[in-house]
Amino acid sequence: MAILRLENGTAYTDFNDISRELSSLKVDLNSWSVGNDAEVRQLLAKDVLSNEEKETILQAVDRYFEELKAKGGYQTRDLIAIHPDIPNLDAMLSKFDKCHTHADDEVRYIVAGDGIFGFVRPDGSQVELTVEAEEYINVPANTEHWFYLTPKRRVKAVRYFTSTEGWTPQYTDTEIRLGGLAINH
Ligand SMILES: [Fe+2]
Repeated sequence: MAILRLENGTAYTDFNDISRELSSLKVDLNSWSVGNDAEVRQLLAKDVLSNEEKETILQAVDRYFEELKAKGGYQTRDLIAIHPDIPNLDAMLSKFDKCHTHADDEVRYIVAGDGIFGFVRPDGSQVELTVEAEEYINVPANTEHWFYLTPKRRVKAVRYFTSTEGWTPQYTDTEIRLGGLAINH
């Protein structure tokens, strides 16, 4: 279940509370089941996946991709599988743990593990949202945000794209006041 933390230390786990706190950002958060297929569940528990295994997982949840295609012009999807033994993991993650925006929405469906998205709200306040397995998030284009892993350092996420270029990070100079960088570095 998602957890939202405010700068004053308040934490919310109720979806209605989280939605209220994120409403000024128009961040979309939903609970999406991966289903009960035994093979898929087994693959989701593995760190390293072949391309074929990734495709098995993707196809098991492609009903959501079909919905996104119908709704918003999404064209491609892939699965990223992050785990502690990936070479240069810190270098890879350091692209995203600074405040940035994208020209396109950042659309992620976490199918295993978890990750933390931080946001700058329009009033300048900052919040951090832990997104867990079987949760979908849409970070709207041009929203200042950052991303880092929890200490477990494991996440599998389906990424949905309308174009391949639009999610390249554009860095902003906003200083992150919440705990993110302290955990990974
Ligand atoms: Fe991002």
